Amino acid sequence: MNIMIIGSGGREFSIGRVLKQDPEVTNLYFTPGNGATTMLGENVAIKDYEELAQFAVDNAIDLTIVGPEGPLTDGVVDIFKARGLVIFGPSKAAAQLEGSKVYMKNFLAKYNIPTARYIETAHIGDAFKFIESLSAPIVVKADGLCAGKGVIIAMSHDEAKVAVSEMLSGKSFGDAGLRVIIEEFLDGYELSMFALCDGKDFILLPAAQDHKRLLDGDEGPNTGGMGAYAPTPLVDEIIYEKVKERVIRPTLLGMQEEGAPFEGVLFIGIMVVNGEPITLEFNVRFGDPECEILMPLLKTPARELFYKAATKELDTLKVEFHDKYAVGVVMASKNYPYDNSVPAEIVVDEIHHDEIAQNTHIAYAGVSEEDGKLYANGGRVLVCVGVGESIKEARDRAYMLCGQVHFAGKKLRTDIAYQALR
Ligand code: AMP
Ligand code: GLY
Repeated sequence: MNIMIIGSGGREFSIGRVLKQDPEVTNLYFTPGNGATTMLGENVAIKDYEELAQFAVDNAIDLTIVGPEGPLTDGVVDIFKARGLVIFGPSKAAAQLEGSKVYMKNFLAKYNIPTARYIETAHIGDAFKFIESLSAPIVVKADGLCAGKGVIIAMSHDEAKVAVSEMLSGKSFGDAGLRVIIEEFLDGYELSMFALCDGKDFILLPAAQDHKRLLDGDEGPNTGGMGAYAPTPLVDEIIYEKVKERVIRPTLLGMQEEGAPFEGVLFIGIMVVNGEPITLEFNVRFGDPECEILMPLLKTPARELFYKAATKELDTLKVEFHDKYAVGVVMASKNYPYDNSVPAEIVVDEIHHDEIAQNTHIAYAGVSEEDGKLYANGGRVLVCVGVGESIKEARDRAYMLCGQVHFAGKKLRTDIAYQALR
């Protein structure tokens, strides 16, 4: 089978990594890929999706997997399907679940899926009135895609009003902020849950926890995610069942009713409040770094899982996971998340300890390659992944690998998985 992966991050690297180990996978392509995906396959530099679909036809690509949300909300799946190509991901219409927070919140309300109390509005007067009715903290969200920056947790009514004013005037996020969601703050613990969907059936993966803040102890600014682990012991069978029955099933049925059946990864951001899973948001793709720790836990070949999801045959598949844990620690560049950094050479010391070498690996993200050397190229650079029989073992292995990886300005959290280990 020939497979193409759209994207350039650690998420796409980690999918490629497990596909590369699969004897059934013949050729692997990344577009655009990064400086390290060339270790796994071939990078393809085609930006136009019609041209990319033609490339898929010309190169007998049997399956395309879409990593990030941008190509999905741009409609890459629709373009590929119009050519009769097999592609895993939601249509442009279904990708609205992530592309528009207003669409998502109204969908949740319409299908009675538990979520934070909210209003959506484009009017400052309505916004201020609703803000007055809530007690702080107050959550303000821009409607459109803002590269993970469109959510403000305001600690006072005044701060919420300033955030709303700046969004509605177009000052903070341009057109993406011209409609806003204002909602009540939920106090609980956060989970990342992923359901692979084929429009009618789904497979729920082990629940993960991300670490969004830059610094230890969940301090500092928000980032794309500084580390993750799975499965988390903070989820029991009861919560899994509630998420299936109250969130995933009604979402699949609702999206059918909306005429936009959901195919692809439904990423459910959940806040567990007093034992009840409340939906914070949907994304329509894998989380990053969550994907990097879920891929090594898959026992069923990823190829089969993605292909069957893309061809609406999930009901014929029994998916198995390793009875293990995975922890991923992100290494970011010096100025992340504020600014780019100058490229820095990455040096990875050889690991002499077999047990560590066999149970760890690096998923490369923001890297470039020159003369056989890898360079940290800004943003999140790579993820050190450890797998083990317990979270502690997986965590210790991931951090042992971190100790072997060097580049100028490297930045990492030292407390990944702390909620599971305290
Ligand atoms: P989002 O982009 O919607 O995932 O929001 C970013 C982060 O803001 C989430 O991961 C949560 O940590 C936080 N957040 C969003 N909505 C709420 C809420 N209603 N209550 C508390 N925290 C929230
Ligand atoms: N790690 C969270 C995300 O990918 O949005």
